[in-house]
Amino acid sequence: MKRYLVEYADWSHREYLAIAKNLLLGRVHRGPDIEKLRQALAKMYAPAGVHLLNYGHHAIEIALEIFKEQRPGRLEVIGPAYICPSVPSSVARRGLQWRSVDVGEDLNIDAAAVKSAIGSNTLAVIAPHMYGCPADIQSIETICKDAGIYLIDDAAQAVGIKHGDRLLGTFGDVGILSFAQSKMVVTGVRGSGGGLLVNDHTLERQISERCATFASSSGRIEALAHFFWNYLAAPYVGGLGYYIWRILGFFSKPTGNVGVTQIGNLDAAVAVVQLARIQSILAAKKNVLNLYNDVIQIYPKMRLPQYRQDASLARVVVELAEDVNFELLAQEIRRRGVQLRSAYPPVCSSGDAGCQRNYVNNVVGVPSGRKLNKEDVERICAVLDSAINGARQR
Ligand SMILES: Cc1ncc(COP(=O)(O)O)c(C=O)c1O
Repeated sequence: MKRYLVEYADWSHREYLAIAKNLLLGRVHRGPDIEKLRQALAKMYAPAGVHLLNYGHHAIEIALEIFKEQRPGRLEVIGPAYICPSVPSSVARRGLQWRSVDVGEDLNIDAAAVKSAIGSNTLAVIAPHMYGCPADIQSIETICKDAGIYLIDDAAQAVGIKHGDRLLGTFGDVGILSFAQSKMVVTGVRGSGGGLLVNDHTLERQISERCATFASSSGRIEALAHFFWNYLAAPYVGGLGYYIWRILGFFSKPTGNVGVTQIGNLDAAVAVVQLARIQSILAAKKNVLNLYNDVIQIYPKMRLPQYRQDASLARVVVELAEDVNFELLAQEIRRRGVQLRSAYPPVCSSGDAGCQRNYVNNVVGVPSGRKLNKEDVERICAVLDSAINGARQR
């Protein structure tokens, strides 16, 4: 039986060559690729400054720290009810309060909801582009400017994507990039890289002074081994990869959240290659999204909430017409060779607007790697459709 697994990175032989070269030269944590990546991003985004760190959420934390110093007394940060949980956690770690607002049908923060949530305690808005689908960032930028509050254009999942003729990440006061698994540009997991783009030049001095204080990366070989065996090799070695990594892990340091550091050279080298291939990566993602759009038309129980002509999505998510038990659905579908991913869990307290819905019950991520063809997508959709009934919430 052919298996359809979720793809975590679109790597060619060039990424592996860059890794091999830097391993041989011993340029794991420090090396010239960090500056190469900084220059490539500076050329692409033309911000006042580019700062490369180990995580995208660390970039958010640094921006919030600086905002807080500028506007002490303002404690609330507005963000969408549907988001990667590391973002609200970053807000809380900086001693700020997260406030969720509604998302629209495309799973992105709603501009009108942002406008009505802004108050005298609002410090900033974080506007992500979920799975690379552009939010209405132009309107949100205008709203934030008019209200005199900071805007973080969170393009963690949207490297290389534009809204109108502007790249995502260039709106607002700062932009965020992430290079972790399942993004547009992927260098690995567990601290494999993120970027802070400073769009407001008046913030650049403070931010660059802060970023200069961070130590070099650590533990990147272990993180790469983990990524390789648990993510990249999974389609070929299955669960065995996990055990290989555990055995290798036995001889190496555990990798975890090591605090804020600079990006590692090994990760930067992969990011340089990925950025050079970005048009090919985006084209492959657009192609697979269009295949799903063609096939899904015959299934009334499924739709693509983020489909737009010419869009490239980091992951394809399917919205189901009815609530299901995700675990049951995923289990049943796995038996038939298809891997599903869960939506993000709810992040907001029940008093917040937009928290009525638990997207885990009716939004699922489907395999969307570049190798899928129309027959593959037909098979995935048919399996999903036939399993939905059995997993319906009672
Ligand atoms: C929208 C969004 N912002 C920020 C982040 C944080 O990125 P990182 O995992 O590099 O910390 C993520 C991670 O998935 C994300 O999806």
